[in-house]
Amino acid sequence: MSDGKGELFELEMLGEGIERRYRKMRPEVEAMPWGTLDLAGIPANAVLLARKQWTGAAFQEHRTGIACAATLRALLECRAPLDLIAMAARFPMDELVHVELCARMAMELGGGTEILHDPDEMIVEADESLRPLLRCAELVVRFFCVGEALSIPLLRGTWHAARHPLPRAVLGRIVKDEAAHGTFGFTFLDWALEHLDESDRAHLGKQADRSIRAVHKQWASIKKNRLGLYDEVAGDALAWMQSDAYLTLAAKSLEDKVRRPLLARGIPITA
Ligand SMILES: [Fe+2]
Ligand SMILES: [Fe+2]
Repeated sequence: MSDGKGELFELEMLGEGIERRYRKMRPEVEAMPWGTLDLAGIPANAVLLARKQWTGAAFQEHRTGIACAATLRALLECRAPLDLIAMAARFPMDELVHVELCARMAMELGGGTEILHDPDEMIVEADESLRPLLRCAELVVRFFCVGEALSIPLLRGTWHAARHPLPRAVLGRIVKDEAAHGTFGFTFLDWALEHLDESDRAHLGKQADRSIRAVHKQWASIKKNRLGLYDEVAGDALAWMQSDAYLTLAAKSLEDKVRRPLLARGIPITA
C-alpha cells in the first residue's frame, strides 16, 4: 500500500476458456435468477444501503477465502487426515463463489461501492514459532470454530427473511455451502485433541476469546447504528434481518454453536 489509505477492492475475470472451466466447476452461479430484481418503489437511499451491504459481504467472503486458504496450508503442514484436508480443500473455492454471488448482487442493485483495504492485513496469521499442529489448531479455532460456526445460523436467518427469489437463491446457495464449513472446525478438534496438552488447550482458549471479543465489538457497532441501518421497505424487498432479530439470534448462536461445543472439548474460554 502506497498512499496509506488502502487499495480498492475490485474483482476481475480473465474470461473465455478459463471462465468456461470455472463455470463448469460451479454452474450454480449462472443458474441464479439474475436480472429479476425490480427496484421500482424502493427509495434511492435504501438501494444505496443494499449496494453497500452486498459489497461488504463480497469483501468478507474474500477475506474468509484467505482464512480458508491459510488453514488449508496449515492442515497440510501438520499432516491432518487426508480425507479431512480434502474436505477443506473445497472451502477456498466455495468462498470464491460466494464472493462472486455477493458482488453480482451489488451489480444488480446498480454497482459495488468503494471499499479500501490493506491486502497485507487481511487475516491474523498464526504464531510461526508454534509447532505445525498447534498452529493449525489455532487457525481452525479462530476461523472455523468461532468465525464460520457463528456465521451459519446468522446466514440461515437472513436467508429465511429473504422474500425476493434472487437474494433468496443467492443466500440459499451460500447457506448450503457453509453447512460443511461450520462443522469442520469441531471435526478437526475431535481428531486433534489427543495430541494437545493442557497448555495447548489454554492457548486455543485464548485465541477463541480473542475472536469472540472481536465479534462482540462488531455487535456493538451494529447496535449503535441500528436506527439508521434498517429500512423496512428495502429490508423486505432486498432481504436482510432487522438488526434486533439479528443480534438476538447472534447471541444465542454464540452460546449454542461456539461456546458450548468449545467448552465441551476442554477448550477453556472466558469471553
Ligand atoms: Fe462464505
Ligand atoms: Fe465459509
